[in-house]
Amino acid sequence: MNLVDVPLMKRLLLEVGVERFLSGLTDQIESDFQRWPQFEKCARLATHAPRGVVELMPASDGTTYGFKFVNGHPANTADGKLTVTAFGALADLATGYPLFLCEMTFLTALRTAATSALAARYLARADADCMALLGTGAQGEFQALAFKAVNGVKRVRYYDPDARAMEKFARNLARTDLQLQPVRSVAEAMEGADIVTTATATKARVAVVADEWIRPGMHFNAIGGDCPGKTELTERMLREARVVVEYSPQTRIEGEIQSLGTDFKVTELWEIIAGHAPGRRTAQEITVFDSVGFAIEDFSALRFVSGLLERLGIDARVPLIPQPSDPKDLYGLLLEA
Ligand SMILES: NC(=O)c1ccc[n+]([C@@H]2O[C@H](COP(=O)([O-])OP(=O)(O)OC[C@H]3O[C@@H](n4cnc5c(N)ncnc54)[C@H](O)[C@@H]3O)[C@@H](O)[C@H]2O)c1
Repeated sequence: MNLVDVPLMKRLLLEVGVERFLSGLTDQIESDFQRWPQFEKCARLATHAPRGVVELMPASDGTTYGFKFVNGHPANTADGKLTVTAFGALADLATGYPLFLCEMTFLTALRTAATSALAARYLARADADCMALLGTGAQGEFQALAFKAVNGVKRVRYYDPDARAMEKFARNLARTDLQLQPVRSVAEAMEGADIVTTATATKARVAVVADEWIRPGMHFNAIGGDCPGKTELTERMLREARVVVEYSPQTRIEGEIQSLGTDFKVTELWEIIAGHAPGRRTAQEITVFDSVGFAIEDFSALRFVSGLLERLGIDARVPLIPQPSDPKDLYGLLLEA
């Protein structure tokens, strides 16, 4: 049983490089989405509280089982805590034995960004190189770097009402060759942008983007509307755009489309990746990736990190599971010196 804790995740990211990690993870998620029908899937199990939500996200490909525990508490940052924290595990389905336990707070930010970049690979215009980033909280840098590494984004116009969040974003990405353009409003951020990422966190139905700022050909990567009663886009713009989701039974409960009814037409991202549906159809089309985060992305991310440990020859074994010499004598293990 291997354990990747926060210090080891940091070491892996520094050794591999965040952008290479994001590119590799994007490809891993793409290849797992290609075999989507093989997976046992379900909408995540959510336990709601007044300030947020705690969720369990399982998935299995028939050989390996994976799950993630994740929370989403937008008011946490006011108390010095993260909005999103997570950990997860892989197990061998044949024996049920857990194989791998991993921090997933970093890994959730990475896999969310990788999935966003993957969707944009099929939905954004091929010449898109400028992104508006609305919300520069914990997810912000990961989103910017994934779009740079995977989609060739060169310019990021960013806005957050919290000036400190804007400053830390600029500081953290100062050494990259991204052109960073701080702006003073959402409308200004969207000027000249081909891709718009909404990564805000308000436990309410808000319109981060007004309809009049939307231009033909834009691709929206909406990651902050991921819970009942928590959305970022207007119903009107969703009805006028082409909406792509991860797993529709879950997105119809949690995503931007939550109040549009069960007959609102969506495409699942895997259908495009597997060639069953087209990606972007015209240069003028407005596309929306209504991302809520799905268990197969976490499954892919866990497998990707576990594969990295092997490739880099890192021994991260911990004695999480007892190993009595006689499997029926668990108690006897307590008596051993
Ligand atoms: N879809 C997914 O898979 C996925 C995964 C992880 C997180 N999320 C969601 O993404 C969102 C961002 O997560 P985070 O960890 O970065 O949260 P965070 O709390 O660290 O940052 C959110 C930022 O949004 C800013 N903001 C609020 N209103 C804004 C507005 N109108 N315009 C611009 N900025 C605004 C806040 O000031 C804050 O800095 C959350 O809603 C989270 O639940 C989604």
